[in-house]
Amino acid sequence: MIKFWSYNRELKKYKNKINSKIQKSLNSGQIFFGKELSEFEKKFIKKNKSKYGVAVGSGTDALFIALKSLNIKNGDEIITAANTAIPTISAIRSVGAVPKLVDIGDDYLIDTSKIEREITKKTKVIIPVHLYGQTCDMDKIIKISKKYNLKIVEDCAQSQGAKYKNKFCGTIGKLGCFSFYPTKILGAYGDGGFILTSDYNLYKKIKRIRFYGIETVDKNNKYLNKYYSNEDGINSRLDEIQASILNFKLSLIDKFISRRRHLAKLYFKNLNLTDLKLPLVRKYSDHVFHLFTVYHPYRKKIIEKLKDQLIETRIIYPYPIQNMNGYKKFFKGNKRLKNSEIKSKGIFCLPVYPELKDKEVIKVCNVIKKTLKKM
Ligand SMILES: Cc1ncc(COP(=O)(O)O)c(C=O)c1O
Repeated sequence: MIKFWSYNRELKKYKNKINSKIQKSLNSGQIFFGKELSEFEKKFIKKNKSKYGVAVGSGTDALFIALKSLNIKNGDEIITAANTAIPTISAIRSVGAVPKLVDIGDDYLIDTSKIEREITKKTKVIIPVHLYGQTCDMDKIIKISKKYNLKIVEDCAQSQGAKYKNKFCGTIGKLGCFSFYPTKILGAYGDGGFILTSDYNLYKKIKRIRFYGIETVDKNNKYLNKYYSNEDGINSRLDEIQASILNFKLSLIDKFISRRRHLAKLYFKNLNLTDLKLPLVRKYSDHVFHLFTVYHPYRKKIIEKLKDQLIETRIIYPYPIQNMNGYKKFFKGNKRLKNSEIKSKGIFCLPVYPELKDKEVIKVCNVIKKTLKKM
């Protein structure tokens, strides 16, 4: 069986280390806001060459808190891509804002040439979603954001470690939001998220919002009364156990990413001459291959044949946001999202994760090649 994703092989490989991290954090007597969290926050900020950062409870929370910190409110409009994860949109709705969708290009990312026509007086933010592990065309997005005075909140949930022209994603816009959902490039064994910024005041504000609005220390790092809120906040903590696992896994992140790149290369090499549309890798972007997304108009047949050979695939995502009952009402009559409709009918993702074996990728490729030959 070739699973689409599973943590079992990773756990088997690093069991002793992970168990000892969990045990150590349990023994520390600190469940939240202890040494593991502050170590992880420091390391994650450094790894991404950012200035400030705050760990939070999930990637969705990261986006919600980021938008809240920018005072986004009811009726404000936020621009993002039609092909994104639902949480990008649910975070927008959580602050009462209205999502404005832009069609995608052949790289499955926001088509920057179509952003401007969605901008109105109410537009406050652009959320470029660096989907599948590749960054959006940030220079173009920055140019538009400057022209219309919009803030950029990067959704980096699928692209931890990816760079745009040598800059880590999440450090290009005003705020960068990450997810540590287990399948992600840096995955916890539970939920987790992170916000990066180079703005000190926003950093302080985000830190308050994640903890009921409480300012825990003063300017001199002196401990303050915990039961006093300075800000309208929520509860979004990354606990010590998750932070300890993330600390360990962060030390392996370069290895994880190079393994993903290696597997992607194998896919490219072996599927190159087929009529399967392989990922379009942009020169300006340093892809980390969170997902290896391919396109074929007859994907159903290919997916079935792979399944017959016990190979799992996944469609990410089968429905563009504008077609979902939960969000349809915001996009009534919008006929400008054609490419996202077309792509959603033919895309599917092949397995790619560090513990996947080369020979398994070759097997996937052989089944695909055989199937395509007969079609
Ligand atoms: C693009 C994107 N944005 C946001 C999220 C939300 O992250 P989380 O699942 O940690 O809340 C995810 C992950 O599911 C995602 O893929």
